[in-house]
Order: sequence, then C-alpha cells, then structure tokens
Amino acid sequence: MSTVAQASPNIAFIKYWGKLASTSDQDRNMAQNPSLSLTLSQAKSTVEISRAEQNEFYIQGSRANELDEKKLRAHVQRVCEAYLKPAEAAQARFRIHSANNFPKGTGIASSASAFAALTVGLVAEITEKSKAEDELKNNLGLLSQLARRGSGSAARSVAGPFMKWDGEAAVVIESPWKLYDTILIFSEEAKKVSSTDGHARALSSTEFPARLKRIPQRMRLIEEAIRTQDLQALGPVLEEEAYEMHAIARTSHPPIDYALPATKVFLAALRELKSRSFFYTLDAGPNVHLISERPIGKEISTLLGDLNLAAKIWEDWTGPGPVIVSRT
Ligand code: DP6
Repeated sequence: MSTVAQASPNIAFIKYWGKLASTSDQDRNMAQNPSLSLTLSQAKSTVEISRAEQNEFYIQGSRANELDEKKLRAHVQRVCEAYLKPAEAAQARFRIHSANNFPKGTGIASSASAFAALTVGLVAEITEKSKAEDELKNNLGLLSQLARRGSGSAARSVAGPFMKWDGEAAVVIESPWKLYDTILIFSEEAKKVSSTDGHARALSSTEFPARLKRIPQRMRLIEEAIRTQDLQALGPVLEEEAYEMHAIARTSHPPIDYALPATKVFLAALRELKSRSFFYTLDAGPNVHLISERPIGKEISTLLGDLNLAAKIWEDWTGPGPVIVSRT
C-alpha cells in the first residue's frame, strides 16, 4: 500500500517573520504576527508514503540528512498521534520519498509545500483517501495546525487560493482572482542564513515592534484589494511589506542581507518605471516574485536583457491546494 500526495508552495503577501517563544510541540512555529499568502499551482512537492519496518526518509532521491530526518520523524509522529490510537501511533513506521519539481533554495519555500503534502498524504495513508479528502473540506484547521508544526509557512499551503494565518491555523480566503507569480531566480544557491534563524534574529531588530503595529492595517488593505480584485491597490502594500521584512533582516543582530547585487539593480530599475502592471515581493532570499494579473514572462525577459541581468524565470499562478493523487 502506498499514498502519493502533492502540494504547492505559497508566496506570502504579508510575511511571517518572527516567532513566539515555544514551550511545547503544540505551540511550535507560532508567529508573532498574522500573515497572508497566495497558493501556487505549478511548483509542487510530491510525497510518496508507504508503511515500513523502519522509518526511512528520502529527499530528491537521496537519504535525508540527520537534521531533516529528525524534523520528518517528529512530523510523522505528530500526524499519527492526531489520527491514530496512542499504541498504533507509537508503532507506525514509514518509507517516505519527497521531491520537488522546482530547485531547492530558489526562494520558493519548499518546506511549506513539503510539509503540507506530507501532512495530507500521511492522513490518507493511515486512514482512507476519502477521509483525508473530507478533512481537506471539513477539518482544514487541524491539517493547517499540524502542517504549521512542521514548518510555519506550511500552515498556509493546505488550501488555496489565498490563506490567512492568525494563531494556531490558517483559513481560506475564497476568491475567483487569478494572479500570476513570475519568479526571477538570480541564484540557486541555498541561502546562508535559514528562515528559521532569520525568525529568531528578527526580534533583535529595534524596528520589529513598529513593524508589528503596522501589520493590522496592511492586512486590512490587502484583504480589501483581494476582495475587490484591485492590483493597483494591492501592489504598493505588497512592496512595502517585502521591503520591510528585508529591512528587519538587515537590522537584526547579527544582520542578514538576503539580497544580491542583481536583486538591488532589478528593484531599482522597477522604481524608475512610470506605470507597472506587476508588483514585487521577496521571500527570505535574493529572488524576486512579480505578481500580476496576466503572464509577463516575455516582458520581464526583455527587461532583464536591457538591464544586462541573468536570471532563470519560473512562471506560476494561483492554485487550489493539495491533492491526494493515489492511495493503493
Ligand atoms: C520569509 O516557514 O520557512 O517565507 O517555520 O522556521 O520553518 P519555519 O520558517 P518558514 O519561514 C518562512 C518565512 C518567509 C515568509 C512567509 O512565508 O510568510
């Protein structure tokens, strides 16, 4: 018997940056502030799960390293504890293969899609496909909470098209608005400071308390822009938010500069443009996400050429959330 499940990453419009101190696994990865994101569809993590004698975890075809293995083992345990009797949960062991169709370290948050796919896939494997599908419809809060404990941003990858995470779990913001995320990959190298370390350092920035005060208003503006499908209203708030997250990183102790020279040249060039049909956001990395209402890949390739910048382009757009591909 085995289960295959898929989930896509999400791109945050309001960033999760800074965690509350956790005292137990239950309150792991609780955020300092609410966040909101768009679920993607073309980038995907696929997990294949089957029962085994021993836990064995593979990422992109290779045995997981010690750190990843520890995180995955803990995650399997928490999902089993939520859905099985304690004695069954204690004995459950799995062989798990997880693979992404997008490169790791591209600024597309692979931990979000991987933990969302793993959570939903495990529920299907230890119960029934129909039970997991029912949970996706009627008990999303529990799936989101479980995914969050694997990686905070995974709380927002258990559904689409938009998700708002405040407290224990994320909730869906329904909307027919189709948005594109054109990702400029300036570097495929894994970042030197992980998001997890960045979260810990964020609280040391003297700018952090002021940021927390600004979030509720920004959240209202973004939710309203989604409701009215108003990209020109969304854009400036999106950019201010991304810029501020990077400013917090730069003023943390020790400071983190996630941008590369190419990132800075590109963003400076955007500021020179008189009107734009796309707006940028950034994750904890040097790569730029451009949000638009139509495909802009060609336009951006031309702009990159004019600026003499080299970047790979990944074109993505709004998605509905995880699917259980099969359970046999
Ligand atoms: C910049 O979810 O990767 O992408 O909870 O430690 O696994 P952990 O961190 P992670 O942080 C994501 C940070 C971000 C912003 C966001 O997605 O909201």
